[in-house]
Amino acid sequence: MLNSLMAKLIPFFPEKLVWIFSKRYIAGIDVNDALAASRDLNNQGAMVTLDLLGEFISTMDEAKKNTQDYLDLMDALHGSGINGNLSVKPTMFGLLLDKEACFSHVREIVQRAAGYNSFIRIDMEDASCTSMEIEIFRRLKVEFPGHVGLVLQAYLKRTPEDITGLMDLHTPEAPLNFRLCKGIYVEPATIAFKQYDQINRAYVENLEFMFKNKIHAAVATHDALLVEKAFELIEQYKVPKALVEFQMLFGVTPKLRQTIIDRGFPMRVYVPFGKEWFGYSTRRLKENPAMVQHIIKALFMR
Ligand code: FDA
Repeated sequence: MLNSLMAKLIPFFPEKLVWIFSKRYIAGIDVNDALAASRDLNNQGAMVTLDLLGEFISTMDEAKKNTQDYLDLMDALHGSGINGNLSVKPTMFGLLLDKEACFSHVREIVQRAAGYNSFIRIDMEDASCTSMEIEIFRRLKVEFPGHVGLVLQAYLKRTPEDITGLMDLHTPEAPLNFRLCKGIYVEPATIAFKQYDQINRAYVENLEFMFKNKIHAAVATHDALLVEKAFELIEQYKVPKALVEFQMLFGVTPKLRQTIIDRGFPMRVYVPFGKEWFGYSTRRLKENPAMVQHIIKALFMR
């Protein structure tokens, strides 16, 4: 009740109020803020993946600018010596405007990353993008086998089939590399699991398939139950550390994050930054009103 009322009010929240919530989850406005936060995380034993905020653009000029910004970011990250890579959202490069031009933009970024022996993760957006993002991944994986990975969402009923559909690209030299998350967008029950237990069951099944088949799996969750289940599966399938990492969002469950680092497992933190933070934060809140609980907490736990 309180959540749904708050959700209706989100579009009217003043920037300052949204910032109170967002500052825990966003590393800052410019590249230097992101690099400083990343150095800090490296010092705590975590790798990073940087996300320059922005998505769902309306002109291809914006797509070009975003591409250049990402290329500059790749150069800056490489020059900084920070242990990290980049995550990209294809809609920022025009996925919903001109699919082929978007592919060329993302390809340019992956090519730059490959030149630095680095890695680009293609984030997964809402269900209108899923097939196109898988296709972009498929084409890039063929050309840059060890330098590109994809996100998969456990709540989507299609995900097991999407994984098996990509197995032809899986080799011991360049294993498939997936980040498995629950999924953040609000999707209809026809295509997505809606209940916590169903989503967790699907998460575990997908993860087990990845471990069994020696796919590189990034376990992206703050759910302590899933983290424990992942450790059980790692033990059961004797998954080498080279084929697994845990991932968490900047500012979320830092204590759980540290316990995983202390157990000696690779951890990567997703670090969003950029001047588009306001749009990003309000969109996330509208998509997932449950996040409003976190605003309320943020308001009272500063
Ligand atoms: P769940 O939502 O059940 O949360 C478990 C517990 O974690 C909560 O009880 C709470 O304690 C804590 N928690 C979770 N979120 C919190 C928050 N924001 N603030 C404070 N506490 C919080 N999604 C997507 O659709 N496409 C993508 O590409 C990505 N990429 C991505 C990268 C990384 C590294 C992560 C960790 C997550 C994503 N996601 C994503 C988001 C993902 O789909 C999911 O929405 C969130 O991770 C929340 O789900 P959990 O698995 O943490 O479980």
